[in-house]
Amino acid sequence: MSKEYRVAVAGATGAVGRAMRSILAERDFPVKELVALATAKSAGMHLDYRGEEVICQELTPESFRGIDLALFSAGGGTSLKYAPMAREAGCVVVDNSSAWRMEPDVPLVVPEVNPDDVNWHKGIIANPNCSTIQMVVVMKPLHDEAKITRVVVSTYQAVSGTGAKAINELMQQTGRLLAGDAPEINVYPHQIAFNCLPQIDVFLEDGYTKEEQKMVDETKKIMGDNSIAVSATCVRVPVQNGHSEAINLQFARPLSVERARELLAEAPGVKVVDDPANKVYPMPIEASGQDDTYVGRIRRDPTAENALNLWVVADNLRKGAALNAVQIAELLVQRDLIRVPR
Ligand code: A2P
Repeated sequence: MSKEYRVAVAGATGAVGRAMRSILAERDFPVKELVALATAKSAGMHLDYRGEEVICQELTPESFRGIDLALFSAGGGTSLKYAPMAREAGCVVVDNSSAWRMEPDVPLVVPEVNPDDVNWHKGIIANPNCSTIQMVVVMKPLHDEAKITRVVVSTYQAVSGTGAKAINELMQQTGRLLAGDAPEINVYPHQIAFNCLPQIDVFLEDGYTKEEQKMVDETKKIMGDNSIAVSATCVRVPVQNGHSEAINLQFARPLSVERARELLAEAPGVKVVDDPANKVYPMPIEASGQDDTYVGRIRRDPTAENALNLWVVADNLRKGAALNAVQIAELLVQRDLIRVPR
């Protein structure tokens, strides 16, 4: 009989945690027992796993005793504190927060791009930022063919990336504004309904935001190429779920639109949706709930040599977070790497 694992989801009540539970079930991950963890206020809550009830427990330093694998999505502070405790208890952590991503001894993995980096894990593997994941999945086959030298990306990021409370805030504000009432502003620095916010995460000294810096640093680490220049502008838009990105790619060698389309059509985890004559292109309302990263509007940039423009859309809770984490866990199962090296 094949191996089964005791799996914990830390942050099981959140937007990503919920997606983790359903994706583990959908993909038939070999779960012997699922342990759902969140704050004390959620302890005792009945959560669904495979149509059965799981009682949520409070996350404590003892939570990982006897657990083989933990998927974390409970914020950076929680990961910073509890991931080392989990590892100490012999539990392998796949962490969705930004806490460990840039640590040199922590692999940062997108299975379609750098699967072999799981081989050197030391107990913690980081799941990249949602905006970075969908970008590198599309960059990879094009980079292998014509070497990307520079990327200019603008993101249009859904509120679900901020968590369950931000989805509620968009709904609340939209409802109140339509009813002629003043919106309540709690989650973002400004109203998000009927608006765009050119700020995701905090500002750094150089005028960029931390989200933008994550796209720069994480892209280089995942692609294993420090020479790729990345310039990012990250924008929160009033979309419930599904991040979109306008991406300009500069190549070292010529790459035709036709060849790019061919490469993307064959790339794992990518679907080309590109028929502008019939008004067909990727949109978040269609990508939401799906596993693939969608690419369209593939066109030459006439203002530069060897450059293309693309429009890329994916479900940020799935490929951008929970699905990528479960795919990393699947790689660990295939390679028998669910153990902490001592
Ligand atoms: P809870 O629901 O009990 O607050 P989201 O990103 O959708 O806001 O979800 C965040 C998830 O992380 C929730 O499951 C939340 O639990 C959990 N969480 C946040 N802080 C902690 C913490 N300190 N310990 C355990 N779970 C936490």
